[in-house]
Amino acid sequence: MNLGGTIRLNKYGLFAILCLFLIYSLHFISKRTNKSTESDVNDINKINIRTILSVAIKAAENGGKKVVEHKDNMNIKSKGKTKEGLRDSVTNADISSHCSMTQTVKHFFPDIKLISEESTVKCNDEYPEYDTVDYVPINKEEFVNKDDVTVWIDPLDATYEYTEKLYQYVTTMVCVAIKGKPVIGVIHKPFEKVTSWAWVGVGLSKDLSFPENRIDNDLKVIVSLSHKGDVEKALEKKFGNNVNVISAAGAGYKALEVAKKHADAYLHVTNIKKWDLCAGDAVLNALGGKMLDKFGEELNYSSDAKVINENGLVAALAKHNEFLDVLK
Ligand SMILES: *[C@@H]1O[C@H](CO)[C@@H](O)[C@H](O)[C@H]1NC(C)=O
Repeated sequence: MNLGGTIRLNKYGLFAILCLFLIYSLHFISKRTNKSTESDVNDINKINIRTILSVAIKAAENGGKKVVEHKDNMNIKSKGKTKEGLRDSVTNADISSHCSMTQTVKHFFPDIKLISEESTVKCNDEYPEYDTVDYVPINKEEFVNKDDVTVWIDPLDATYEYTEKLYQYVTTMVCVAIKGKPVIGVIHKPFEKVTSWAWVGVGLSKDLSFPENRIDNDLKVIVSLSHKGDVEKALEKKFGNNVNVISAAGAGYKALEVAKKHADAYLHVTNIKKWDLCAGDAVLNALGGKMLDKFGEELNYSSDAKVINENGLVAALAKHNEFLDVLK
């Protein structure tokens, strides 16, 4: 008669022991991970990726404020002509944004490797608003070796359009590459005050988390305003009349259009600098896409690699092979 009771008791007992064991092991595991994090925190040669993402967002937004501030006081200086024969200029806004962005990053990471479009400029210390950052709502702590990190800064993408008051194309961008791979991308639209960011494999800003579903099935390809003709011909050769060519300015703008599925691909044929591409590349990677050159190779954003990409570009979330054909 006692037997049933004993068995029941043992069942509960076993359950309780199991629970205790589980709690103990969880505790043990979490203690172990915390321990390794603590040693990373104190290692001056390591960088917390979540912190640098938060700082990158702050830097892009600080730069964006300068871009907006200087819109009626640009003081355009010519840097010559771009390959497409457009005015290649630098304005007060480029320089002020560059200084604000690089100083924001350097305030938190003084000796990080940093490559910016306007790096020949001397900055004075008049950019005080970099003191605090809002941390991104991500719980992951991950540390990397500082030597493996390169930060790419574009203080004002689409300068020509900015001087023409085509503000929708203007962005400020920060990219963090680790061992040459784009891992964090931040693209800020200063006139819309929207910041799109991505940490590959970990998290995305809200605007990138819920891509709209396109109703139409038309093939849409976005190309540069300044050399639409060549690419358009090649696209028609490959896809016939079924392709819709959209022209727009700004590499950051175009990459975001692909990320948001407003276009299936962004194609580029002339030389382009990597600070124009890195952030968009990271964003596309985070969404399962990527940027490839015409040889189908991924771009290398290591500080030792070339700053110019001379090999064309296919930026897409999928079907890269079809678009690569167009560049051949
Ligand atoms: C990028 O290039 C650097 C040297 O130029 C090399 O060390 C690194 O492994 C390359 N990274 C990738 C991802 O290919």
